Amino acid sequence: MAQTGKLLIVDDEEIALYNLEHVMKKEGYDVTTASTGTEALKLIESKNIDLLLTDLRMENVDGMQLLNACRQRHPDSEVIMITGYATTESAVKAMKEGAFHYIAKPFRLDEVRKVVSEAMEKIRLRQENKQLREQVEAYEGKVKIITQDPEMRRLMDLVRQVAPTDCSILIEGASGTGKELFARVAHQSSDRCNGPYLAVNCGALSQELLANELFGHDKEAFTGATSHKKGLIESASGGTLFLDEITEMPADMQVKLLRVIQEKEVLRVGATKPLPVDIRVIAATNRDLKLAVANGTLRNDLYFRLNVITLNIPPLARRKDDIPLLVRHFLQKSSARMRKEVTNVTPEMLDILMGYDFPGNVRELENIIERGTAVTSGDTIEVAHLPDHLRNRESQPYHKESGVIPTLEEQERKYIHWVMNEVGGNQTLAARTLGINRSSLWRKLKTYEDSGSR
Ligand SMILES: Nc1ncnc2c1ncn2[C@@H]1O[C@H](COP(=O)(O)OP(=O)(O)OP(=O)(O)O)[C@@H](O)[C@H]1O
Ligand SMILES: [Mg+2]
Repeated sequence: MAQTGKLLIVDDEEIALYNLEHVMKKEGYDVTTASTGTEALKLIESKNIDLLLTDLRMENVDGMQLLNACRQRHPDSEVIMITGYATTESAVKAMKEGAFHYIAKPFRLDEVRKVVSEAMEKIRLRQENKQLREQVEAYEGKVKIITQDPEMRRLMDLVRQVAPTDCSILIEGASGTGKELFARVAHQSSDRCNGPYLAVNCGALSQELLANELFGHDKEAFTGATSHKKGLIESASGGTLFLDEITEMPADMQVKLLRVIQEKEVLRVGATKPLPVDIRVIAATNRDLKLAVANGTLRNDLYFRLNVITLNIPPLARRKDDIPLLVRHFLQKSSARMRKEVTNVTPEMLDILMGYDFPGNVRELENIIERGTAVTSGDTIEVAHLPDHLRNRESQPYHKESGVIPTLEEQERKYIHWVMNEVGGNQTLAARTLGINRSSLWRKLKTYEDSGSR
């Protein structure tokens, strides 16, 4: 069977280059050659390369430089080094820099054939894995809510239960808690899942633009309107319309929206005849809804109409057990996106995250992991990769962002765990550091263990 893959062969020895090119072409590879390192560098920049087969010693630009350039430009590529000056030292160095294999001259052609074929197989498997992972991600990314929190699980059950009905859903929750994610789940678990899902942020547009976006307009509705335009309500027919920041919607528009929901018809701006629509409305807000109703920002009648099912998404600080799960999820997500293999965070970093209040909730955690994945050069994110305000947290006795001040007991528990960690789990040393006797420390640790807290 003919082999596939893009191969760049570099050798300053004419005969060797010719031989390799001939053999590899016969194998079926897509072969490009270069007889100097400088020429090869240009090809690495300009062409797609799966495998680089290069001589180590060359004038000006040598094999090691090509290896580095190739790994940088084509992170999924592999490199095989060939040299007439085989020393263990240069072999080790090449392998350390990430070469797939090392071949000494004079080589047997079937040896090169075998090594090249193995390298191509590795590349093919890696590409296949990545594609699969991306497919799974794309599939899961649509609907997956990561949580082990009982309250969140209850909300997820509720969403699945009411999704097939057409009743409106109102989602309350602080910024970044996952309101939009819940809206998507509701849409995807409904019979409307093959219909459109359209979202509009009511706070992001001026009053006229929002009316135009939502309701559309008829020809000559206003100066400059040369043709008619479908609004989002009409376009979402057969599907779901997600109205984010609903309390920002002007009062008169709220009346019109109420009409759409009740009468199942929409009136374009400037039109006289309403058009039938079939939409499911999901609205969200990060404001206090009762307050918004009390002070008139949200019309009472619309509130009651939307409020058939309410989901109140708890802030991340109230479901800290979700943090490690979400960290793992976001590591996978950002690694796949950045084509890196960052799989861990250090225990110290996780400790800081567990003690943090996340005013920006899940979105803030996602940003932290994304940033860490981008800046780390290894497979682990460390404390040093955290944003400044998180790295310097240890000096603060408590964190005001959440508005919740911990009790003395909670603080004591955290402090004791911190000291235990610092002394590597040695209770005698920890007791001495804390200035209490060993049996008191043991008793306290036992209580924490029994209550399942950390
Ligand atoms: N439980 C979760 N599992 C996986 N990803 C989550 C979860 N919660 C939130 N996210 C992710 O966090 C980010 C923020 O979520 P989302 O946009 O749904 O929040 P929001 O409440 O609508 O925020 P805002 O009020 O700022 O609009 C998104 O990238 C979302 O995919
Ligand atoms: Mg949102």
